[in-house]
Amino acid sequence: MPETESCKNLIALLQLAYSAEQAAAYAYRGHWHSVVDVEERARIKQIEDEEWHHRELVGGILEKLGAHPNKQREIRSWLLGRALGFLCHLMGWFAPMYGAGRLESRNIREYETAARYARDCGHEEFTDCLLTMAEVEWEHEYYFRSRVLLHFFGRSLTLWPAPPPKETIRESFAREAEGGFTLVEAAS
Ligand SMILES: [Fe+2]
Ligand SMILES: [Fe+2]
Repeated sequence: MPETESCKNLIALLQLAYSAEQAAAYAYRGHWHSVVDVEERARIKQIEDEEWHHRELVGGILEKLGAHPNKQREIRSWLLGRALGFLCHLMGWFAPMYGAGRLESRNIREYETAARYARDCGHEEFTDCLLTMAEVEWEHEYYFRSRVLLHFFGRSLTLWPAPPPKETIRESFAREAEGGFTLVEAAS
């Protein structure tokens, strides 16, 4: 049972991430099937596999925290992922690459925040795993951004804000730990 605000926030965020990974994985399954380029297919297939792995890891953390995935979110994310995967076959090359990049940038922040909640509620044993997932999401964002920028339309658009360099994920986390910073205190 969650004892602190940070623990409740961690569980809620992980339930969200657990289902979001399912939606992402199914969407990428449709995505890699829809692209023609062999290297793009292989990389997006690898990203699908990484999302399934994240889901496994997040599920494991939830279990250790005595929590479970949210059933309604699970149903919604299944439907959403399947729908997006199907739409990838109709939307052409650019829109799925753009949408994926935008979503991935949010995933980086989600796992960084989850790592902070874990630290704040005394579950330091999960922080390395959560920060590693943030780093993998950073790689995903970088890949889709690079794809979008290959396209003349992508170069003429203002893209979502670029995340800071990958190293800053761990650097800022370590800096905050030294300064005794907590998310709950920062919000109050
Ligand atoms: Fe993921
Ligand atoms: Fe991802």
